[in-house]
Amino acid sequence: MVADSPKGQKARSLRPETLAVAFGYDPADALGAVKPPVYLTSTFIYPSAQHAKDVHEAFFEGTGPLAETGGQKRGGHIYSRLGHPGLDILESRLAAIDGAEAAAAFSSGMAAHSSIALTFVRPGDSVLHGRPIYGGVDMLYGSVMPQFGTHVETYTDGTDPVAVRAAARAALAKGPLALIVAETPANPTAAIVDLDLMVAVADEIGRETGRRPLVVVDNTLLGPFSQRPIEQGVDLCMTSLTKYCAGHSDLLAGGVSGKLELIHQLRSLRTTWGNHLDPFTAWLVVRSLESASVRIERAMANARTVAEFLRDHPKVAGVTYLGFLQEGTPQRAVYDRQCKGAGSTFSFHVHGGEAESFRMLDALKLLKLAVSLGGSETLICHSATTTHYAVAREARLAGGITDGTMRLSVGLEHVDDLIADLAQALEAV
Ligand SMILES: Cc1ncc(COP(=O)(O)O)c(C=O)c1O
Repeated sequence: MVADSPKGQKARSLRPETLAVAFGYDPADALGAVKPPVYLTSTFIYPSAQHAKDVHEAFFEGTGPLAETGGQKRGGHIYSRLGHPGLDILESRLAAIDGAEAAAAFSSGMAAHSSIALTFVRPGDSVLHGRPIYGGVDMLYGSVMPQFGTHVETYTDGTDPVAVRAAARAALAKGPLALIVAETPANPTAAIVDLDLMVAVADEIGRETGRRPLVVVDNTLLGPFSQRPIEQGVDLCMTSLTKYCAGHSDLLAGGVSGKLELIHQLRSLRTTWGNHLDPFTAWLVVRSLESASVRIERAMANARTVAEFLRDHPKVAGVTYLGFLQEGTPQRAVYDRQCKGAGSTFSFHVHGGEAESFRMLDALKLLKLAVSLGGSETLICHSATTTHYAVAREARLAGGITDGTMRLSVGLEHVDDLIADLAQALEAV
């Protein structure tokens, strides 16, 4: 079921690009303003004491006269940490774009990941995730959650049914499997994970043990227009909205879409963690979502041209770009089934190691040396010493990150200027 907005707007018949422009906001709520206002308030007035009680009952119990169906909202607003109008608009829009029943927005992508972990994993449980994976998520499940008595197991080829099932068995041997986490394509090498396989493995474990793990997908690198995890049956689709969805490298935000029942649990505990998205940032994300599909299309076209240039360059040892997956490989089969585009973030490896990479990075004039991705400007970084600094060397190498690996997030500049800058900087290698 796809969410309709609280005001009854129908999401079902519209495409994600259309939903991104105006869904979830009714101008009649704001004096006809075409764009939503920013509601900068920490608290909301109750019209009566009984209404106050009803609103609290609806929020905390989901019952009473104000318990609304439709999924986006219970009752009215109470206090901005529990929910606010900007969050309602963003969450309705994100759910509709993702094709989900509901969504919850957080103060960053990592706030979303941590909330999933703290809401759905209990002491003694195990978690299965792929490698490579974003360094923050690696730390969450590899170092932080084990301090609360949880276990972790990893797989490296998320398209290999035998290897994934073996890793799932190893996880189950440590404790009940709570989550199967897949980042696809993975940061930074664009390694691909078969989401149909993850859902099948979760179903098998559910039948066998009576407890079906939730399948969580980090959809940050392709985003909602190029990959549709909810339609493939995953339980929770997480997106760092900081990246392509907001798209200007000027804010941090995270979103999770899925079944209403799961999203309600996340929203309820978000009240305790206090990691909701604030009104102004929510407004910025809503605004940016309108142009996201167009920005992503341009970035993907640029990325293909840049990847082709790098592939043919003598100083470059290899390029891991989804658009170059070989016909006949399992990865290519998954890509053809699962992805509508190759994205604009990928890695390339220079001949040599850290010293050669640093020489090239320091010679760049237009490309910016910074972590993050999905912004309007092209960003580049040396993975081993930045985004994956805290990941152990063997784990890094197992995930395909060498000392000569650089991650590139191709932006919206003219592609000829990007190539000219890379060409002159590669001379320094
Ligand atoms: C794939 C992926 N997931 C999650 C995150 C975390 O998102 P945020 O920086 O918004 O907390 C990042 C950040 O780079 C990422 O690349």
